[in-house]
Amino acid sequence: MMERRIVPSLLAADFSRLGSEVRHVEKAGADRLHLDIMDGSFVPNLSFGPGVVEAIRPKTNLAFDVHLMVSQPAVFVPAFVRCGAECLIVHLEADHPGGDPLRTLELVRSSGCQVGLAINPETSIEHVSLYFNAIDFLLVMTVRPGFGGQPLIASTLEKVEAAFVCRETYGFTFRIGVDGGVDLETAPHAIDAGADTLVCGTSLFGAASMSRTIRKFRSFTCREPALTQS
Ligand code: DX5
Ligand code: ZN
Repeated sequence: MMERRIVPSLLAADFSRLGSEVRHVEKAGADRLHLDIMDGSFVPNLSFGPGVVEAIRPKTNLAFDVHLMVSQPAVFVPAFVRCGAECLIVHLEADHPGGDPLRTLELVRSSGCQVGLAINPETSIEHVSLYFNAIDFLLVMTVRPGFGGQPLIASTLEKVEAAFVCRETYGFTFRIGVDGGVDLETAPHAIDAGADTLVCGTSLFGAASMSRTIRKFRSFTCREPALTQS
């Protein structure tokens, strides 16, 4: 069974004091940090780029999961590798060299980073299962990417379940994450579907106590592998 990871998304932090927010996340007991990169083209919003990632890198020992919501992720792989990303998550729906997502995944792999693949709510799991042997992390978007603070789309959890069953059946090793609208009410459903990695923005940065909320996320009972046959 995969150990659960609680991964705060910096998008919901106070951008006027990112350094202390990053330290706060680490002290609160988070496992890694999720960094949302938006280019105003792949999604209708802008966030921040490699310069900000580089600036916060020395503030924490947490690994950085960089979520590239950009139209041409392959172009930005070298820049985010240089500024200290441990995992690069690219979208299946983006433009890939030669129209082949595998080319981008291989570029990330050869750069020494862990390989993440994200899918939008409307993308079916069949389109992504082709890449299960090439990735370390499958990120199922549980909202439309672009903005924090949206409610989780319940139907996306069917894809988490399908990915979980496929992974357990065929012995793949990738983690399964959910991103968007994950809070103390929705997390048990995501976990029950098979999510082992919870990306949480609003629910953690908006909590009265981030550390207590992280502990609550950890306390939910894991899905039993035995249930995969049901
Ligand atoms: C959405 C981003 C998410 C976002 C999640 O496009 O990928 O990481 O920050 O925020 P919440 O938890 O507020 O839905
Ligand atoms: Zn994200």
